[in-house]
Amino acid sequence: MSVNCDITFTLNGVARRLSVPLEMSTLELLRDQLGLTGTKYGCGEGECGACTVLVDGVSVNSCLMFAVDCDGRELVTVEGVIAGATGQRLRDSFVEKGAVQCGFCTPGLMVQATHLLARDPAPDEETIRRGIEGNLCRCTGYRKIIDAIATVAQGEHHG
Ligand code: FES
Ligand code: FES
Repeated sequence: MSVNCDITFTLNGVARRLSVPLEMSTLELLRDQLGLTGTKYGCGEGECGACTVLVDGVSVNSCLMFAVDCDGRELVTVEGVIAGATGQRLRDSFVEKGAVQCGFCTPGLMVQATHLLARDPAPDEETIRRGIEGNLCRCTGYRKIIDAIATVAQGEHHG
């Protein structure tokens, strides 16, 4: 029998209070309990970045974080990222640059890119490359992804 714990946190700007099993991951909480399926299950082991979310503004692999550890934190998922101006520019830029093929890596990459641009609004190519190195893409070879992020960075930097 699983033991539950009450948690209170902010999810995409909305205060939430939930009861979650102690062994549940944040990824399971988002996808299975809350229906936020934009966050993807890839490896389940912290290796692929498909499950990336922002926790207190820092990118985290949600498959490695227990749901109970969301207590008192501020979570933003790809659904929340897309609702913001930077997220919308990233989404448009990913499409324009052909950085989306199968699309499985795209939500995690957009969250990661949002984190990167929040820390450094004008990253050079090497900084972008290093910033997304934990997010694996099997399809694109990364060139188009880097171009898409760089285009948004240039736009943000120049206003
Ligand atoms: S599913 Fe979390 S890092 Fe791969
Ligand atoms: S577009 Fe398919 S894994 Fe990146």
